[in-house]
Amino acid sequence: MQITSSISKRSLAIGKQFVSTEPHASKALKDPWTDSNPTGNIVMTVAENRRFSERFAERLHKCAIWASPVIEDLHYNQSIGVHVIREAIARHVNQYVLAPGKFPIDASQVVTGNGVLPLLENLVYAVADAGDGVLVISPFWHGFNYCLTVRMGVNVIVVPTDSSTNWWPSENALDKALQEAKYAGVKCTAILVCNPSNPLGKVFSEEQLLSTIRWGTSQGLHIICDEIYAATVFNDTVRFVSAWDIASEHLGPEQQQMVHILWGPSKDFGVPGLRIGAIFSKSSQILNVLTATSFFAMTSTPMQRAVAEILSDSTFVSDFMRETVAHLKKSCESFTAELRRCDIKYIAPSAGLFIVLDLRRLLPSRPTFEDELVLFNKLCNAGVVITPAKDCHFFEPGLFRACPYGLPQSCYCSLADRIAGFH
Ligand SMILES: Cc1ncc(COP(=O)(O)O)c(C=O)c1O
Repeated sequence: MQITSSISKRSLAIGKQFVSTEPHASKALKDPWTDSNPTGNIVMTVAENRRFSERFAERLHKCAIWASPVIEDLHYNQSIGVHVIREAIARHVNQYVLAPGKFPIDASQVVTGNGVLPLLENLVYAVADAGDGVLVISPFWHGFNYCLTVRMGVNVIVVPTDSSTNWWPSENALDKALQEAKYAGVKCTAILVCNPSNPLGKVFSEEQLLSTIRWGTSQGLHIICDEIYAATVFNDTVRFVSAWDIASEHLGPEQQQMVHILWGPSKDFGVPGLRIGAIFSKSSQILNVLTATSFFAMTSTPMQRAVAEILSDSTFVSDFMRETVAHLKKSCESFTAELRRCDIKYIAPSAGLFIVLDLRRLLPSRPTFEDELVLFNKLCNAGVVITPAKDCHFFEPGLFRACPYGLPQSCYCSLADRIAGFH
């Protein structure tokens, strides 16, 4: 008798979730663009800022923990993070994410873990059951899809937006999405917002956020706000306002407990490999659930202690943040100058680690996502790997997300020339 083993049905579904860029990006990275390999592939699919990695590594190396390890750190510790990291993150966020001094977060309202993505999954576990729905404002980062669907079995209820609505949904659009989900038998329990937006690099206004927060809480929905790009704002004319501050200022105490914020140093500091993130909530019920599930998302204690030390080094942090923002601004200017030189349209970002290129004119009239896939493959063959609109959940094909900040500015010219070759 032949014995066969099988994997679970839900694991079989995972393959369907992967974005189209992943196999192309890893193949292209076997021959990457460098100053000495100018015909290599330009891969701009990962939202990373590597400019100051060495500087951060130098500071990490100096952390006291490596010279004199704390014995207790080798034992089991608080699963939500040791007190020093929760306190250091609260202090940092109070200064760099929230309006200083207004509605400060307390360490008791912080749960930490191994990155924003796993914590978001734990938060989804807390607010939705399998089969429920979470409203997600489009376009959005494909990681949200993984997070909601793969293990949680929660439905993504997309709320469409486009340039005509300033990329933010009206109350009518939100009502419509909620009603359509209801007709389909899906109960929505939360709304997920990313501000500043991945992929648009837009910073949404206080009015936009407040209207949606008011609408959501009046419907009994939890508001989940991913603010991982909070300190990447490089446009001096826009102001980032955290949903925490908005809720604290405008909502009653009970509704404030429905608003939950995610932040981590992965993007602001360009260190996603450290695997640290945090959730802030005023709901003791949600914090209790997160405490129970935090065992599945713990960061090693020595790393928590090292990051706490770095975040508490105010000179290092303020210099690092200032220079990061200056670098993003300068790189964005160089990148968009190359795009303009080659007459390539784009959506001007104010924040984030990406720029959306508008390549719709390279598609046939009335384009489909199949047409976009053809263009994506042609771009890959020309050595340009960028994320197509479909993977960013845009409603229209032809808008591609490029993440230029992981590569030197010297390659921006080659990228623009290669795309211009298709005009
Ligand atoms: C909006 C958003 N949230 C979360 C993450 C992942 O964060 P982390 O590395 O802390 O898990 C990303 C990474 O691209 C992101 O774009």
